[in-house]
Amino acid sequence: MSIAAMPSFPTGFRWGVSTSAYQIEGAAGTDGRGPSIWDTFADTPGRIADGSSGEIACDHYHRYPEDIALMADLGVSAYRFSVAWPRVQPTGSGAANPAGLDFYERLVDGLLDRGIDPVATLFHWDLPQALEDTGGWLNRDTADRFAEYADLVADRLGDRVRLWITLNEPFIHMSLGYGTGEHAPGRALLFDAFPVAHHQLLGHGLAVAALRARTAAPVAIANNYSPIRPAGDTPADLAAVAAYEALHNRLFTDPLLGRGYPTELGFDQSAVRDGDLAVIAAPLDVLGVNYYNPTAVRAAEPGSPLPFDLVPLQGYPRTAFDWPVAPEGLRELLGWLHGRYGADLPPIQITENGCAYDDLPDADGRVHDPDRIAYLDSHLRAVRAAIDDGVEVTGYFVWSLLDNWEWAEGFTKRFGLVHVDYPTQRRTPKSSYAWLREVIAAAERTPAR
Ligand code: BGC
Ligand code: BGC
Repeated sequence: MSIAAMPSFPTGFRWGVSTSAYQIEGAAGTDGRGPSIWDTFADTPGRIADGSSGEIACDHYHRYPEDIALMADLGVSAYRFSVAWPRVQPTGSGAANPAGLDFYERLVDGLLDRGIDPVATLFHWDLPQALEDTGGWLNRDTADRFAEYADLVADRLGDRVRLWITLNEPFIHMSLGYGTGEHAPGRALLFDAFPVAHHQLLGHGLAVAALRARTAAPVAIANNYSPIRPAGDTPADLAAVAAYEALHNRLFTDPLLGRGYPTELGFDQSAVRDGDLAVIAAPLDVLGVNYYNPTAVRAAEPGSPLPFDLVPLQGYPRTAFDWPVAPEGLRELLGWLHGRYGADLPPIQITENGCAYDDLPDADGRVHDPDRIAYLDSHLRAVRAAIDDGVEVTGYFVWSLLDNWEWAEGFTKRFGLVHVDYPTQRRTPKSSYAWLREVIAAAERTPAR
């Protein structure tokens, strides 16, 4: 893994790490935080692989100074975290809980002291339970509540956050949370989950307006994308690819970039009211791209409720999550976004990319994770190749700084550059951390252009 061979990146390229609130903070009952849908879901037997919850997680709520020091030592110029809505509004509406905002203020100020740009995501899936009790994102009112919450956070932090991200992966939240029920809130509505897409997007648009009223900082959304590969070559397989592509890659991005909803999925669009599409298409400063792997699909079995079947993509090495490692998919995806949306595409930042591997401390106490180094190396080269192809990519954030609570997988999947021993909360930087520090230092010594 030669660092010298890593191609250079444009001047000002943003190097970062990403996390999210419920996955690292713990302190679930501290300082007036209200319950979220993930507390409820994790307490439901059978939902989480190891029966765990995020109640303590990485205890980042108390250990954030140590985590900031790890980032400073790594040399990143930005940190993408999420704000827990139930800390700011314990029941999802009404006045702010000052103690919740105080935590994020301490975090943001600590980052700025170390020269790290705070990048704040407002919604990374931890909806206040009280809002779920009135329908969650199936209820149009949740979009208005989200804009009010955005206003409260921006009122406190609008002068210091350097990039705002409204929603994290609304497609994954809709599909796993409301479509299949694998994630909180655990509803299995399949295509009847469409109002969740629309209300998240409406909430995004209303939040963009709320943020613009309080801050001049740039505003983004972070979407999950996946190149779609046919598992067979029949016309029915190719039709399944087109349907799944419309769902995964276009359902959110087409309306965000002014093209309205894809029509071929046949959703009931009665949730869409006059004027909504204009709110949703509010100009964005940055498009956040989260990339992990391509997806293979084939024609659905007769009688299936969906127009496609997802199948394992064959022929690639796999992570501990059994996800295929396909860096060329990232270059392909960036080129697809550039080609499809043209002048309407804002500059891109890769807001998540990373992998789960099981590496644990050796007898010498060190954690060697060569597979993660290979994954990050190949995906950074794919980003560089996309820049050479003409795509404007201005940053890259690794998922994740720390091993953390991986949703339905509990603590069984480790995505960190830093190993966490959960019983002691001891942090041990892995060899990928040392590798990335060299990559960032080398990039800043010899920037391209
Ligand atoms: C996708 C990933 C995504 C994950 C969310 C997987 O099926 O391939 O890209 O991040 O679901 O848990
Ligand atoms: C999510 C993260 C998650 C990661 C790995 C993304 O879908 O935004 O919260 O931990 O992928 O699954």
